[in-house]
Amino acid sequence: MPHPSSAAASAASPALSPASTALARKARFWDRIARKYAADPIADPAGYEATLQRVKDLLTTDLDVLEIGCGTGSTALRLAPHTRRLLATDVSAEMIAIAREKVAVQPFPQLSFAVADADAPVFGQGTWDAVLAFNLLHLVDDLDRAISAAVQALRPGGLFISKTACLNEMNPLVPRVLLPIMRAIGKAPQVLCFDAAHLQAALVRQGLYVEAVERHGTKGKDPRVFIVARKPLA
Ligand SMILES: C[S@@+](CC[C@H](N)C(=O)[O-])C[C@H]1O[C@@H](n2cnc3c(N)ncnc32)[C@H](O)[C@@H]1O
Repeated sequence: MPHPSSAAASAASPALSPASTALARKARFWDRIARKYAADPIADPAGYEATLQRVKDLLTTDLDVLEIGCGTGSTALRLAPHTRRLLATDVSAEMIAIAREKVAVQPFPQLSFAVADADAPVFGQGTWDAVLAFNLLHLVDDLDRAISAAVQALRPGGLFISKTACLNEMNPLVPRVLLPIMRAIGKAPQVLCFDAAHLQAALVRQGLYVEAVERHGTKGKDPRVFIVARKPLA
């Protein structure tokens, strides 16, 4: 039997582009744990509600908002009524599938979900009044590149709002011993280790003005920093 031509073979089984292969590799861990992530209770409900309230106070119903690393969409569902449009994105197709299941039960006309990589500038240039990143920046490949992509997506004067784990503020055994072990057995993703000052410096390097740096945790020492930063008008 003759071999199919390479053109026919690739039509039958299209090769993944390098970009989609990288996306699939990044998403693998999150796809695998998505259902469990969706079922897990919020670790610090009071801290979560404090952050939500703070973000709601920054949003208005004439703003177009992009969320990156939205997970299963719980926060997007809470914030959507406070926006004109909220596009919530995540690298994991499984997380987005769960988010879409939730929005099917509780629809908001202004809310939509999409699979997208926060490391790549695919969200449109100068399109968004606010970019939200909750529990994400320690998970991207390259902190400066991800912030730069968010800055490009923002309109002049737009807000970048992030809450993220600062692993260098935790017990050093966590980033140096616990996480590498958990990663080796497939129980943790690859993480970036930084502290709040390093994160602020990266935001400033990418041209943002940092307007607020806060801690919203209600359980002892809070290693997650909440930051509001603004893109200059010109
Ligand atoms: C710890 S969860 C946080 C989910 C949600 N933001 C929250 O606060 O509950 C991290 C999420 O970031 C997503 N993620 C990781 N790397 C990403 C990337 N490069 N681009 C977009 N999303 C990413 C994961 O798929 C996961 O859903």
